Amino acid sequence: MNETKRYTITAALPYANGPIHLGHVAGAHLPADIYARYLRQKKETVLFVSGSDEHGVAITVQAKQEGSTPQEIVNKYHALNKKSLEAIGISYDIFSRTTSPLHYATAADFFTTLHQKGVFEKHTKEQYYDPIEAQFLSDRHIIGSCPYCGHARAYGDQCEACGTSLSPEELQNPTSAISGAKPILKPTMHWYLPLHKYTHWLKKWILEEHKDFKSNVYGQCKNWLNQGLRSRAITRDLTWGVPLPLAEGTDKVLYVWFEAPIGYISATKEWAQIHQVDWEPFWKDPNTTLIHFLGKDNIVFHCIIFPVMLQAHGTFILPKHVPANEFLNLEGLKFSTSRNHAVWLHTYLEAFPNGADVLRYVLCSIAPENKDSDFTWKDFQEKNNNELVANLGNLVHRTLHMVHRYFDGTVPANLAPTAAEETLLNTLRTAFTRVGESIEQFKFKEALQLCMGYATLGNKYLTTQAPWHMIQNDPTAAGTILYHALQLIATLALLLNPFLPKTSTTIANMIGLKENGWGATDISNLIKAGEPLAKAVVLFEKIEDSAIEKQLEKLQHTKTLSQPA
Ligand code: MF3
Ligand code: ZN
Repeated sequence: MNETKRYTITAALPYANGPIHLGHVAGAHLPADIYARYLRQKKETVLFVSGSDEHGVAITVQAKQEGSTPQEIVNKYHALNKKSLEAIGISYDIFSRTTSPLHYATAADFFTTLHQKGVFEKHTKEQYYDPIEAQFLSDRHIIGSCPYCGHARAYGDQCEACGTSLSPEELQNPTSAISGAKPILKPTMHWYLPLHKYTHWLKKWILEEHKDFKSNVYGQCKNWLNQGLRSRAITRDLTWGVPLPLAEGTDKVLYVWFEAPIGYISATKEWAQIHQVDWEPFWKDPNTTLIHFLGKDNIVFHCIIFPVMLQAHGTFILPKHVPANEFLNLEGLKFSTSRNHAVWLHTYLEAFPNGADVLRYVLCSIAPENKDSDFTWKDFQEKNNNELVANLGNLVHRTLHMVHRYFDGTVPANLAPTAAEETLLNTLRTAFTRVGESIEQFKFKEALQLCMGYATLGNKYLTTQAPWHMIQNDPTAAGTILYHALQLIATLALLLNPFLPKTSTTIANMIGLKENGWGATDISNLIKAGEPLAKAVVLFEKIEDSAIEKQLEKLQHTKTLSQPA
């Protein structure tokens, strides 16, 4: 391995049992993309992987409901989700899928290595069996009341009301989600990952060495570790999944949460095959920084179970950061796939075909970084109209308009700078450091706010300096002001690139910005005097009340069905 530094960035693989909604975007994919774009802009070596999680019980349930097969379901949603995520500019190096043959082989090998190392325990246990359907019931297929909070419809693996992770035997009054029958207990053998054996190691690795984890992540890990870890079954009595690579378990598959995170590795291998490079440094070289982006319901899998797997395997690096977000709600209620209380990404794009950056802007501004947050259509409209149109769009538009009108579309010379210009430039000189620091702490909301502060500054500068008043008597001074407004816009285009990539490119093209790195060397001369500007194009359109009302109407029905968040 060489000394080259590199980054492996992952965004939690969305289940391919339905379209993805804005919560998935805000929770994992957008922050991962902002971070990856930022690093690329800094000329770091970055590999950004994600893909579809195509196993899991929900997919078999869905296939049953739609009168289809699991493979057909995942083919459909994998294609849909890949397309819509890419349409909003999520810049994966690869968006793979867990039904690929390469993933089956990778996951099976991973299991085999751990098996041969004697990592697993084997236990025969009584498990819930649906006597009507004649099948063992997965944890998700058993519904009962939560022993911790009393929620009546907790699942056998987790209570979604209080977030506690459960095992099916803990549920009170269990029933089968498939037939509604009262399940009976029947013995079956499974392979277990003895998490408790890693408690000491995990406590040291997380609680001592990763005090830098976000407090929501650290807190969850601490709770888990203090509650005490138990062995977790990593095989299932199902037919949809990665088959267990052992003669004695051919009727079983690997548990989806064992095999899906390995999907990050399979995706890396697939990417490496395409580009004919070695995949291993991205997962094995200690100079690689591995970062997992995800929502809070995935924390335990990425901070405890997957790291134990990687550690037990022995040759892998561990994540340096697990910047998990809390949940995004919708109009005050939880996103709910089953109640259709959601804004699906693909339907958003149908309603707002040019709305990729607007969505990125709004979702980043309300990102649930430290606590749950709420997406509302009214707020979406206001942020678009008051911030993107009236601040950023206006700054670019008025500046270009004046350069075209007063200077024939040619960048005016910087002949008469005053103290006002010096102050402006001094502020801009610290911009990359300030915004970069926030990004590196995964405070994307704060970073974007800082960027928008520079747009506000630009508008104030223009209003105070009022070049339109001096153009007759002092064109040199007016030109100097517009020259500086252009440098500010250029700086802003660079700063905004991770957040609003399309807008950033459009601005760069309009003003002829050649630089594309982070932390340009001389922000006072990014746009050269005498260069021609392209024609101004409108960056953002105002969103009318009618468009918002239409979206709200769609949610009217589902709102009345849903429970408060
Ligand atoms: N499909 C899971 C979810 O949506 C996330 C899987 S992440 C992975 O909650 F690590 F398993 F890939
Ligand atoms: Zn509960």
